Amino acid sequence: MTAKIHSLGGYIHEYQKSIANPEAFWAEVAEDFYWHKRCDKVLEWDFEGPSIKWFSGGKLNITENIFERNLYTIGNQPALIWEPNNPDEQSRTLTYSELYLEVNRFANSLKNLGVLKGDRVAIYMPMIPELTIAMLACARIGAIHSVVFAGFSAASLADRIIDAEAKIVLTADGGFRGEKITPLKNIVDEALQSCPGVETVIVYERTKSNIKMVEGRDIWWHKAIEGQSDECVAEEMDAEDNLFILYTSGSTGKPKGIVHTTAGYMVYSAYTFHNVFQYNAGDIYFCTADIGWITGHSYIVYGPLLNGAQTLMFEGIPTWPDAGRFWDIVDKYKVNQFYTAPTAIRSLLAMGMEHITNKDLSSLKVLGTVGEPINEEAWHWYHDHIGRNRCPIVDTWWQTETGGVMISPLPGIIPTKPSFATLPLPGIQPVIVNEVGKELTGNSVKGNLCMKFPWPGMARTIWGDHDRFRQTYFSTFRNMYFTGDGAQRDEDGYYRILGRVDDVINVSGHRLGTAEIENAINAHPLVNESAVVGYPHSIKGQGIYAFVVCGELSTGGEEGIRKSIKMAVTSMIGPFARPDLIQLVPGLPKTRSGKIMRRILRKVAEGDATNLGDITTLLDEDVVVKIIDGALVEV
Ligand code: PRX
Repeated sequence: MTAKIHSLGGYIHEYQKSIANPEAFWAEVAEDFYWHKRCDKVLEWDFEGPSIKWFSGGKLNITENIFERNLYTIGNQPALIWEPNNPDEQSRTLTYSELYLEVNRFANSLKNLGVLKGDRVAIYMPMIPELTIAMLACARIGAIHSVVFAGFSAASLADRIIDAEAKIVLTADGGFRGEKITPLKNIVDEALQSCPGVETVIVYERTKSNIKMVEGRDIWWHKAIEGQSDECVAEEMDAEDNLFILYTSGSTGKPKGIVHTTAGYMVYSAYTFHNVFQYNAGDIYFCTADIGWITGHSYIVYGPLLNGAQTLMFEGIPTWPDAGRFWDIVDKYKVNQFYTAPTAIRSLLAMGMEHITNKDLSSLKVLGTVGEPINEEAWHWYHDHIGRNRCPIVDTWWQTETGGVMISPLPGIIPTKPSFATLPLPGIQPVIVNEVGKELTGNSVKGNLCMKFPWPGMARTIWGDHDRFRQTYFSTFRNMYFTGDGAQRDEDGYYRILGRVDDVINVSGHRLGTAEIENAINAHPLVNESAVVGYPHSIKGQGIYAFVVCGELSTGGEEGIRKSIKMAVTSMIGPFARPDLIQLVPGLPKTRSGKIMRRILRKVAEGDATNLGDITTLLDEDVVVKIIDGALVEV
């Protein structure tokens, strides 16, 4: 267990310590872990390069810190509790000892199939225990996992496999999601048509779907583990060896392979889990995220397991068989900490109270939210009806790139305020800067959120493109990590996140680049060009509004083309990136130099075209008039 803060005074003390001497602070936190060799240097950093190294010279394996470090004391305790999609199916619980043996066995299977330290392993799996086993097995042998969310299309999966140069893909025949089955293996087959580098596919049998196994390439999971030993000596890793790649969206079209390394990520995910959720031995912790995103990596798998916690993994969706599914799970397992996204809260809020009133939610102690701003109505509903006015809400702000929570209340310790992420965790030094990078000191300020000092969990690079890493995060404001978010620091010094200031939108907690969606729309044969912006959406947080210029209309007319554009986006990215509103327009508002004036489109999409600001640089004002005339609103 890592060091825990118990009081407001303790927080202030730890925070001050972490700022006065960050190296000493993190060295002390790192002492709780099991190292083959302790580090020579706690921190070396330079935000210009950038080059960030934590715990240099240290030798370790993250899985030994989950298993060997804890087995004597908690070997027989549940590590992973798995609740299936269908409540009538048997749930599964793996103790630390059982999970350890499964991880070792699968690690040996990977080795047997030729996977070596440093190789990339693409994982495209449903939310089943084998997904966690697969990730930890990679970490055990020093292979780099690259989990791809199982809602991505074949084209997106292929892009990620190619970018990471993965030689092996782990998948399942299918995945259960409510009443539907996602045909994962068929999607992998389609993706692999453009990935000649993939030599092996391991397939877990989950849905018993009818699939084709490719001779010489595909192997069943149960065959792969047959006869493998459940002992596997952990690979000794350098502190800065890569642990995983996780792709995320940015301002440009191509997804970025965010790279996290071993020791820093371990220390940070463990430390933040323990403090943000105030986890106590024996508690049951439930995070509803998908492991395909960073929240699942850090707060279903690594953070909880490094703390010897009982982490609950749910295969299904919040609304099936009915909208009480989360609360049934809380009631069934007597969940103590519950962590979800505001979009889930808003959609369940809209379903009414009948799914909640008869559930025993008295076990809950801490409620968390992540991924997008939470509006006050949703915050109060969560607080009053789920927490029954007893449970503090931790509104946790962080990103794929930060590895773990950065700004958040500590429950019961830092007083909360609806829709404020409140204060930075120890070791985190946020600053708010204006457009020219001047730090806005004092309280009651608003601007761009940056970090002026490194923390152990931060990303180290973008896979295969260090210069893009520098440009994206370290070039906008000198000597600072730029988050891409706008933030306010109020009169009490509390932080409120105001949303992205770049061309990234946040749809139901899914982070999407507008350029990525535009690329998919532009690939449609009848589309000349397009521009995508976000607009406020009552459930999703942001909806996707696409302005599309078509050369001609097909026989299906406007409706037909809208439908086929949606299909194109689904097949290029995935259903979650499908535009909510598609307006066919005669042209896009551009400056004389040809740049699309997105500011105008955002205003139109928000339904506020009365004040468009300065439009004197517009090439053709008439286009704007026509766009305003044809603007769409959600019905
Ligand atoms: O805009 C912020 C928003 O989600 C972005 C990061 O997305 P992603 O890398 O997918 O990671 C999501 C899970 C950590 C941020 O730049 N965001 C995240 N948490 C919050 C938030 N916005 C407001 N409040 C939050 N608590």
